[in-house]
Amino acid sequence: MVLVSEATYNSCHEFLKEQLPKHFHNVRLGIICGSGLGGLVDTIDPTTKVEFHYSDIPGFVTSTVSGHSGKLVFGYLGELKTPTVFMVGRIHLYEGYTPQECTFPVRIMKLLGVESLVVTNACGALNPDFKVGDLMVINDHLSIAAMTGQNPLIGPNLESFGPRFPPVSDAYTYALRKLAFRAALETNISKDDIHEGVYTYSSGPMYESRSEARFLRQIGADVVGMSTVPEVIVARHADMKVLGLSLITNPVVTARGKDAKKEVLNEMGIETVVDDAVDTELMKANHEEVLEASARRADDLQRLMTRFADLWAKE
Ligand code: 6GU
Repeated sequence: MVLVSEATYNSCHEFLKEQLPKHFHNVRLGIICGSGLGGLVDTIDPTTKVEFHYSDIPGFVTSTVSGHSGKLVFGYLGELKTPTVFMVGRIHLYEGYTPQECTFPVRIMKLLGVESLVVTNACGALNPDFKVGDLMVINDHLSIAAMTGQNPLIGPNLESFGPRFPPVSDAYTYALRKLAFRAALETNISKDDIHEGVYTYSSGPMYESRSEARFLRQIGADVVGMSTVPEVIVARHADMKVLGLSLITNPVVTARGKDAKKEVLNEMGIETVVDDAVDTELMKANHEEVLEASARRADDLQRLMTRFADLWAKE
């Protein structure tokens, strides 16, 4: 396990301060753009925007997923021109990085002054009431990986960021969740298209088996994805307020598959048994449908986030 030292965070912070104009030395709002939200930075005034490719920032690892580039962007968001830092393209555990490498930028955001962190993602729906294209404000998470050793806080505790044993029982700030719903309704997202619920984290890169999906549903999850939770743990450790926003890009297959034994007994006339299982062959998740669904909602998400920034700035 590669652990990141305090000195590495500090020298990255020093580097950014040297490169950045003074007005971006303190940014109070941070946004991690998941699949579909990367276009948000294209709405930002290019004359004030400052961008760094991850590969040019000491301590950053680079994102390797298609559909996710990798840059840290500083700019003014919304009518109230809130100084904001954006991660466009995030780092996932399945790329082979350790949980601390994946969450390195979150601590850099903390050092840059970020008080509220918005974490967005694409996910699959376990809740049968959720449709592709719907949004979900995360009100809690469930992470078997983080509970059983894949946790970014494992290793010597860096007291300068937070306590050894941080609580995450209230990880998703109530006031920010309310602002997100307000921003959504004010930007004409239908109340039936935005939900509140539980996000569960799987390291990926595989999509879940049917039994895994049923298990996750039964233990209380509404959606499943491959990101967000490690970043939220690190953000909450450092006492940042957090908003989690999920875009539902596909239904997760929880149905039981066809039963081969019943089928053969039927075919051979040994027994007549009804098999009400569905053909799950046609329902497999794939990365293309995830990218497609997020592209379709991209404009709505951008408007929502821009409005959110203005409501946040007024608070
Ligand atoms: Cl179905 N599963 C996981 N783990 N992540 C996803 C997904 C499914 N759809 C989008 N992201």
